[in-house]
This record gives sequence, structure tokens and C-alpha cells, in this order.
Amino acid sequence: MTIGILKEIESENRVALLPESVATLVKMNVTILVEKDAGLKAFAYDKDYEQVGAKIESKANVIAGSDLVIKVNAPTKEETAALKDGQVFMGVLNPYFNGELVKELAARNITSFSLDVLPRTTRAQAMDILSSQATASGYKAVLTAANTLPKFFPMFMTAAGTIKPANLLILGAGVAGLQAVATARKLGAVVYVFDVRAAVKEEVMGLGGKFVDVEGAIDDKAAGGYAVEQTDEFKQRQAQAIHDQAVKSDVIICTAQIPGRRAPLLIKKETVEKMVPGSVIIDLAASTGGNCELTKNDETYVHNGVKIIGNSFFPTDIPTDSSRMFGKNVINFLKLMITKEGALNLNWEDDLVKGTAVTHGKEIVHERVKTTIG
Ligand code: NAI
Repeated sequence: MTIGILKEIESENRVALLPESVATLVKMNVTILVEKDAGLKAFAYDKDYEQVGAKIESKANVIAGSDLVIKVNAPTKEETAALKDGQVFMGVLNPYFNGELVKELAARNITSFSLDVLPRTTRAQAMDILSSQATASGYKAVLTAANTLPKFFPMFMTAAGTIKPANLLILGAGVAGLQAVATARKLGAVVYVFDVRAAVKEEVMGLGGKFVDVEGAIDDKAAGGYAVEQTDEFKQRQAQAIHDQAVKSDVIICTAQIPGRRAPLLIKKETVEKMVPGSVIIDLAASTGGNCELTKNDETYVHNGVKIIGNSFFPTDIPTDSSRMFGKNVINFLKLMITKEGALNLNWEDDLVKGTAVTHGKEIVHERVKTTIG
């Protein structure tokens, strides 16, 4: 089998597979084509790919010569049009919000795997790109906040007086939120955390964060580790508790998300207006609507002296390690579908292969995606 690695769009610094991951695939008897300069912005040069046995080609040749095409992001219109009948595409399609693309892939008989819908089981952990990339997001969000805040994060007792530590509020204690807690604690900030899943309280406290309890959350274990929509009564109580904590915070890091739905709205305009000027809000949920009412996706702006940074793409700012983790995830997933001889064998009996497939045989085969996009 031949796997093709495509170059990402201009704003993306990551690459789906670094040369070290390509080397692993070559050992698995797979032929690899890499689009020219695909790894450039992650500091992986064409010669590095060639050294581990890959061939550098133009975009058109990579697509034409591959059985399976891999990219971090969804294919562009041009790439989608170039994909061949029956070809396999793997990447992060964000399918719940990209209905047109999914329909197009189905119509063109492309078998597509969207790594962001991988089922969250124990066996899938090593393949989970949402987790690996969220690690980068949580870390970088805190560093960005520390760089932006006009105050120190740690407490200082100096001859020039005592500096109080920064107060952080982290909304959502999933992978990104927990990494944010750990990073902010290492920088000496005081960290408060909200999440609807009571199960994360111990983890937050273990990292040195303070968990803010709001009674009555629905914690649905059947949702496979993901959060579920909450009742209106709970939302009201939570809103008050978040407001009270937010106005005392120097930094708010928003990470709360519900897969396939708009991110929960947790910080209202009135709350932002009561925050101290100079405070910073980093909204990692910006691409799905944001946790803050004032967030603008991919934009930074100031409201009443509070800087609001809407950025769901921090992993692109740590391209080497984000790509490294992404590639490891991809290889672990590919191991489910590559034979010893290096041939592609899509085993539809495997729950992870089946659960990650979005289109196959001219159909949308992912039930939740199908229902969501209509
Ligand atoms: P996510 O990015 O979907 O959401 C982030 C956090 O926001 C979650 O902790 C969620 O509970 C929280 N949240 C949602 N609505 C909220 C609201 N209204 N108010 C406050 N918080 C809210 O989640 P992520 O980080 O992708 O994963 C969540 C959990 O899933 C992990 O902590 C882990 O337990 C589990 N997981 C399991 C995996 C596996 O077994 N393969 C892989 C990755 C995660």
C-alpha cells in the first residue's frame, strides 16, 4: 500500500507524520509519498523524509499515487476534487460542523476516517488525537495568558513589596483543562476549576487546583467520558457560581466542550464587564462558538480592558511536538488496518475502525454525523 502525506494550509504549522513516524511505516512495508515541503513548518525537511525512505512529490502526484491520503486537517476543495473513486482519506474532518464536505466525500465514493470521532475506549487512548492535541492547547493557553497578563503568575516577596499570585479560573477539566491546571500551578498561580463531571474533582485537586462544586450536574457515564447537556436549573446555579469566581480572576481559560454541539456558554458579557481591566480570557472553545459570549473565533480583542483571545488552534504553535504526538496516534490507528505485508485491510468488525469512519461506499456511515448534518 502507498500512503500519501499532504501539506497543510498556510495557517497550519503541523504535519500529519514526522519523518520518525514515516520510518515506522516504512518498516511496516508501506510506501510513503510526501508532498513537497509538507513538514517545513514543523522543521521536518524533505531530505529528512527521503532519508527514512519516503519519496517527495507534488500534491497532484501524492494524491494520484496513494491508496490512503493523510492530512491533519480536512481536505481543501481542490484536494477533495482530486481524490480518486474508492480512495481512503484520513484526517480531522470536524464532521459535525462540515456537512457539505462529508456529503461531497460520500458522493465521490471516498472512504473517510475522521480522527476526531474516534470512540473513547481504553484501547483507543493511544490513538486519541483530541487528547494529544488538547495537551498542547492547555499548555500553550496558559503560557499565552502569562505572556499577556500585566501581572506576575507567582507570588513574590521582595524588598519592593509582596506581589500576590495570579488567580486563574479554568472552565472544563478535560485533557486541555487539566494540562492548563498543571502548567499554571507550575508557574505559581492559584487555580480554580469548574467541570460538570464530578469525576474530575480528584484529578484537579491532585494537580493542586481548587474545584468549585455546583450541585446537581448530570454526569452521564454512558456518554463514554464526554460531557452531556445539562438541565436549565443546573445551568442557572452554575452561571452564578462562575460569575462570582470569574470577577475575582485575572485569567479565565475556557475549555468546556460537548462533542458535536455548540460549546456551553459560561461567561456572559456582564461578567466580563465586572472583571478587572488587564484580565485575560483565553477561549479554546472558540471554534465551536466559545464559552464566553464575547469570544470571536481566531480573533483577539479588548472589551472594557479585558483581552479576549479566541483560539482553538494552539497546537499549531507547538508544531514539532504536536505533530510528533499526532503521528504516533495515527500510527497506532493505522496498525488496526495494515497487514504484515503492508497491505490495507479495513476490518469493519473492529469498533474503532467502524466508529471513526464517516463515509464509505457512497454513504455517510457514522450515525451521529448523519443525524447531525441531516
Ligand atoms: P472535551 O474537550 O469534550 O471537554 C472539555 C471539558 O469540558 C470536559 O471535561 C467536560 O466535562 C467539560 N464541560 C462540558 N460542558 C461543561 C459545562 N457546561 N461546564 C463546565 N464544564 C463543561 O473533553 P476532553 O478533554 O476531550 O475529554 C474529556 C474526558 O474524556 C477526559 O478527561 C477523559 O476522562 C475522557 N477521555 C477518554 C479517552 C479514552 O478513554 N480513549 C480519551 C480522551 C478522553
